[in-house]
Amino acid sequence: MYALEIENLNFGYETKTVLENISFKVKQGEFISIIGPNGSGKSTLLKLLSNIYNPKSGTILIQGKNIKDYKRKELAKKMALVPQNTVTDYEFLVEDIVLMGRYPYIGRFEKEKDEDYHIVDEALKLTNTYNLKKRRINEISGGELQRVIVAKALAQNPDILLLDETTSHLDINHQMEILRLLKNLNQKKGTTVVLVIHDINLASRYSDRILLLNNGSILGIGQPSEVVNKPNIEKAYNLKVAIERNPITDSIHIIPL
Ligand SMILES: Nc1ncnc2c1ncn2[C@@H]1O[C@H](COP(=O)(O)OP(=O)(O)OP(=O)(O)O)[C@@H](O)[C@H]1O
Ligand SMILES: [Mg+2]
Repeated sequence: MYALEIENLNFGYETKTVLENISFKVKQGEFISIIGPNGSGKSTLLKLLSNIYNPKSGTILIQGKNIKDYKRKELAKKMALVPQNTVTDYEFLVEDIVLMGRYPYIGRFEKEKDEDYHIVDEALKLTNTYNLKKRRINEISGGELQRVIVAKALAQNPDILLLDETTSHLDINHQMEILRLLKNLNQKKGTTVVLVIHDINLASRYSDRILLLNNGSILGIGQPSEVVNKPNIEKAYNLKVAIERNPITDSIHIIPL
């Protein structure tokens, strides 16, 4: 079964075309990274996949069903988005934010159950943010906030996780911790991971496949070694590179020249 089936997707803001003829499929349980230069349409694509925007044309199927036919809560049980920018002007506590991840499971006139609080604690522990539980969301660091937003998405218990540059504000240790956590969820629970990431070397190391976006079109999709090659990278990023294998992990490794 496919987690995602995207066919002939087109989208633009007002008159500007941002995504053109995007078609690809993601299998259930796959770990796929989306890379591409700034402004190439990565965040826009994730927003279309999570039903924040409507495509101009084309279709999006989530687990075989058209995204338009999902009720909001039904979709939220299947899929969670960790957005690139999170507004944090509010004085919510970290635990309140993560508890919001439980909303698809809580009926309109229901209260949170013990199980919901338990799941929140688990998500906080998995993302190494349990110690921040009682802190205000607008009084923690950027990297801490990113991990809390991942915790919120985990509390949603989705089959499919979409993450937009979630590791970009993290120090090297927390970056690895989040990637390992994602890989672990992917391997143990079969969670499908779609990760927008700028670090091509990390993408190559952790992903089954990579999708390279350039100017709103797919320049390449496939295994890291198929997509991360000299012509593709030099074209997309306008930068001379050498491509090697990392001697320790054997994953594809690019070196800007
Ligand atoms: N709300 C918006 N209104 C109008 N144009 C937008 C809007 N959001 C993004 N764009 C434009 O759409 C294009 C794609 O933006 P998008 O945010 O999807 O890029 P991205 O690949 O995520 O870039 P980055 O790596 O910088 O996050 C850019 O040219 C951007 O200026
Ligand atoms: Mg973006």
